[in-house]
Amino acid sequence: MQTTNIPVIPGAGGLPRLLIETDLAQTEIYPHGAHVTRWQPRDQAPVLWVSDKAVFAEGSPIRGGVPVCWPWFGPHPTNPAGKAHGFARTSSWTLRTATQSGDGSAHVALTLADNAATRTLWPHEFMLELAIDIGATLTLALTTRNTGSAPFAISEALHTYLSVADIAQTRVRGLQGARYLDQLTGAQLPQEQLLTTFSAETDRVYHTQAGCALTDPLLRREIHVAKRGSDSTVVWNPWIAKAARMADFGDDEWPGMLCIEAANAPGAPVTIAPGESHTLGTTLSVNGT
Ligand code: BG6
Repeated sequence: MQTTNIPVIPGAGGLPRLLIETDLAQTEIYPHGAHVTRWQPRDQAPVLWVSDKAVFAEGSPIRGGVPVCWPWFGPHPTNPAGKAHGFARTSSWTLRTATQSGDGSAHVALTLADNAATRTLWPHEFMLELAIDIGATLTLALTTRNTGSAPFAISEALHTYLSVADIAQTRVRGLQGARYLDQLTGAQLPQEQLLTTFSAETDRVYHTQAGCALTDPLLRREIHVAKRGSDSTVVWNPWIAKAARMADFGDDEWPGMLCIEAANAPGAPVTIAPGESHTLGTTLSVNGT
């Protein structure tokens, strides 16, 4: 059953889109990929980054916003020719709920169930739901239910692209004390001691259940990334050469973004028994500094 008081209108590439404008925030969601592409709290610059080169088309992932990486994060676990980051971000989800309240908050829920196409890529029965709570904060909760008769394991991420004024001046605090896997070298590195700063391509999986905060001195704000049901936080900026290699990422756009992703990375997958479920969540909030 569908409950909605928010119209679905054509968006980029003709894909259906929800535009939610309230006193608290402006938000844009595509059922394609259950993808939040915009969240801009009142009196703030947009919090989410989307590439000017992003592709909005059936079957393609959207470069920016919050792609849902599921049921695997990174390369396909067994098939090198398989799509990276799973199929949730390129699937068409079903809109279940889209309601806006008088207090400026809104709630959207989308679901994706296994079908013949998903079972050829990943042979399991599931029901996936993304619940999105919108207001002065943005909360995403991705719930995986095992509707089959055997356990399965997933890795996953809410692959949040944050907008920053200048990556070279961006700092992340809250990762101190966490060990991390450097995905560029494969090395497991000892605890981060200082604030995280950026001066080259960065692709790290921090082993931590804690949230963190991004400080943006030019925009005079901190973006807090809280999370739950998550054992790892992925931090990514492609820098110059990798940005140039990606067709859907502008060559000069890398200084304006940083991904901070609430994840359960492949090194520590989540196993879900039949009839059981697991929720991965993240909440974004913004403070002026
Ligand atoms: C990050 C990964 O989460 O996503 C990177 O850690 C990857 O290794 C990046 O390059 C983007 O992936 P994709 O498939 O969207 O280009």
